[in-house]
Amino acid sequence: MSESTAKQIVLAARPKGRPTPENFRIEQVPMPALPRGGVLLRVLYLSLDPYMRGRMDDRKSYAPSVGIGEVMTAQSVCEVTASEHPGYAVGDIVLAPTGWRTHAASDGTGLRKLDPKLAPITTGLGVLGMPGFTAYSGLYAIGKPKPGETVVVAAASGPVGSLVGQLAKMAGARAIGIAGGADKCRHVREELRFDAAIDHRAPDFAQHLAAACPKGIDVYFENVGGAVWQAVLPLLNRFARVPVCGLIAQYNASGGEPGPNLLPATMREILSKSLTLRGFINYEFAAEHFATFLQTVAAGIKSGEIRYREDITDGFENAPATFLGMLEGRNFGKTLIRVSG
Ligand SMILES: NC(=O)c1ccc[n+]([C@@H]2O[C@H](COP(=O)([O-])OP(=O)(O)OC[C@H]3O[C@@H](n4cnc5c(N)ncnc54)[C@H](OP(=O)(O)O)[C@@H]3O)[C@@H](O)[C@H]2O)c1
Repeated sequence: MSESTAKQIVLAARPKGRPTPENFRIEQVPMPALPRGGVLLRVLYLSLDPYMRGRMDDRKSYAPSVGIGEVMTAQSVCEVTASEHPGYAVGDIVLAPTGWRTHAASDGTGLRKLDPKLAPITTGLGVLGMPGFTAYSGLYAIGKPKPGETVVVAAASGPVGSLVGQLAKMAGARAIGIAGGADKCRHVREELRFDAAIDHRAPDFAQHLAAACPKGIDVYFENVGGAVWQAVLPLLNRFARVPVCGLIAQYNASGGEPGPNLLPATMREILSKSLTLRGFINYEFAAEHFATFLQTVAAGIKSGEIRYREDITDGFENAPATFLGMLEGRNFGKTLIRVSG
């Protein structure tokens, strides 16, 4: 890439079911110019997150879809390379809504300065960023775990699930993680110190989950839906709370999928066990909880009480393949692309 060109990745076509590399196109574009009063940014790390799958569909949701030919949505960690903005100097490290780009121009909207002395800058996209805050806000504002209760979370080795379980432990609860495969389950038990980890790919998954929850489930932090929800539902206790955070098992569904209709059973359990199910999008809690989240989790990382894992792939052009792998569980920790630096 020459000094005068940048790269971006756009949505080339909408996926039908599971996305493929053909749904993306990499483009060379002129280097952006410094906007009056703004900043120029060089992307260091690009964040890849499950919500981006939803943006690829032309479907009504909480955020607008990416249009065909438009740059894929993303947050990234960037270095300021030129600035006319009073709040940002050359060399500052910022979090920015750049989309899948190597370079970007900004008028300053949506930027947040990161302190490299507080924690490694990549954490701004993971444990100390949007996914970490999702875990913190959903667990505390909706899940409300109490000492001695049982908290279950799936995608437990990822940035949301790994923090949910560790925060549940800090609240005095038992934490049970659900993850795909023996390596992830070992990590969840031994590194993240959950009380148990269950492999959702094992044929007798539902029985193992029931055995790990002898007193039932008081908080189920819903990250996946599908077969995991089916196994969890009969184990929920009276007055259990279910923060509905994500449904990754359903993101590629195009309608008319085979499998049982779980709606009648779900409604029956909601009524007969006085369950609370509440969906949420992390930013709904930002005004009230973000500052405390940063303080609490940064302190937990510093003391070693909170651990995190990142899965970093080198090379901007590897973003589509890495993203597709993450949707299928091939990531092991927070998925990031090292773009430069
Ligand atoms: N509501 C919000 O504001 C908000 C914000 C951020 C994230 N989220 C949601 O939170 C969830 C976790 O996000 P994350 O960033 O922490 O993702 P992540 O764990 O890094 O990656 C997704 C993981 O989902 C698991 N998975 C994929 N298909 C599955 C299936 N059919 N059944 C069970 N597990 C499956 C895979 O892990 P295994 O290999 O362990 O199966 C995969 O590694 C996602 O649903 C995401 O959309 C919501």
